Amino acid sequence: MKTNKYGFSTRAIHAGEEPDNVTGASAPNIVMSTTFVTDTDTDFSVQGMAEDGAWVYTRWGNPTIHRLEEKVAALEEAETGVAFATGMSAVTGLLLDQLKAGDHAVISDIAYAALAEITNDMIPELGIEITKVDTSNPRNVKDAIKPNTRLVYIESPCNPILRLTDIAAVAEIAHNAGAKLAIDSTFATPAATKPILLGADFVIHSLTKYLGGHGDALGGIVLGKKSDLATMRKKTAVHLGGSISPFNAWLIMRGMATFPIRMKVHEENALKVASFLENHPKVKRVIYPGLVSHPQHELAKRQMNNFSGIVIFQVGEIKNKLKEMVEKFELIHYAVSLGHHRTLIFYMPSDDLLKTSFKLTTSEQLNSWHEFAGDAIFRLSVGLEDSDDIIADLDRALEVL
Ligand SMILES: Cc1ncc(COP(=O)(O)O)c(C=O)c1O
Repeated sequence: MKTNKYGFSTRAIHAGEEPDNVTGASAPNIVMSTTFVTDTDTDFSVQGMAEDGAWVYTRWGNPTIHRLEEKVAALEEAETGVAFATGMSAVTGLLLDQLKAGDHAVISDIAYAALAEITNDMIPELGIEITKVDTSNPRNVKDAIKPNTRLVYIESPCNPILRLTDIAAVAEIAHNAGAKLAIDSTFATPAATKPILLGADFVIHSLTKYLGGHGDALGGIVLGKKSDLATMRKKTAVHLGGSISPFNAWLIMRGMATFPIRMKVHEENALKVASFLENHPKVKRVIYPGLVSHPQHELAKRQMNNFSGIVIFQVGEIKNKLKEMVEKFELIHYAVSLGHHRTLIFYMPSDDLLKTSFKLTTSEQLNSWHEFAGDAIFRLSVGLEDSDDIIADLDRALEVL
């Protein structure tokens, strides 16, 4: 179905779907088959795969996975997308497709921990040069560009400190240098920001988070122009084999039907929770793009149509009271991940993260980290429960301090 003429919520429901032409089923079927009966001139190698050819083998492509790709592309206003088994396989798929030995990439010095870790060792070990800078200042990106820079990679808001990057400004810098801009938009989601309309070439999502929205299916996607993604399906999805299960694709697609209304409630609840925390005597600092106190609130207002549902906050000395605090929660789950209907929280001490993931070297980088994260943060993914209940749960736990 051509859904570009329709609004965002309509696209979330209808894009990539149509009634089944055999049974009339209104909800999409799941095609779990790993292989497809083909005609005798089908190539055995994926090298012969035609973009719009018949289905051959699910690692190459599958009708249910294709529906998911169409749906996410419609929300991001991207030409096309390639789905992966996880957000991380989308990230590695993109890096390995776009970069080869001798190339250089400029990467945000704070981004999802696993991306930070592979760009500290695994990716440089392939002969790819990486420079990490604080991309919240576009000047740093400009200064890091080299003649062999092929890719600039950012997150906005970034995980875990919610620092923002001006996407349009960085896109211009990347393009002037002949490089592409990739952005992991998992935290913002297409309800907040459509990076392709701001000049980004690639958008990545961990579908495990807000787009799926229910914490029951891993998935990832890279979106962009057909010409930019032409080699990705063969080179990384098919050859490295990080294909998503059609069952997970179907679950994520089902979750996406309610994505626009979920994001409204995530934002509404997060604003109430962030304001409660900001006025709580035991809380030292709250960072949320929707608060006037966020250091980049003006950029957030300009670049985000929804402030999403992640709030971070610092408390005073926690010493050995974390366990006691967490035991007070009746509803909130102490768990990693985010973007689920359930509220999730996780404690992150700065020293640990700076040792394992973010090897910040300059005093400017460290100052910027501490401006947002202090000595430690709680990362709170505000869910869809009644906001009063989330607030009461937090209040009970904070009393322990
Ligand atoms: C911003 C961001 N990108 C990528 C990922 C990786 O996604 P996945 O867990 O689906 O591999 C995560 C996971 O937390 C994330 O927060």
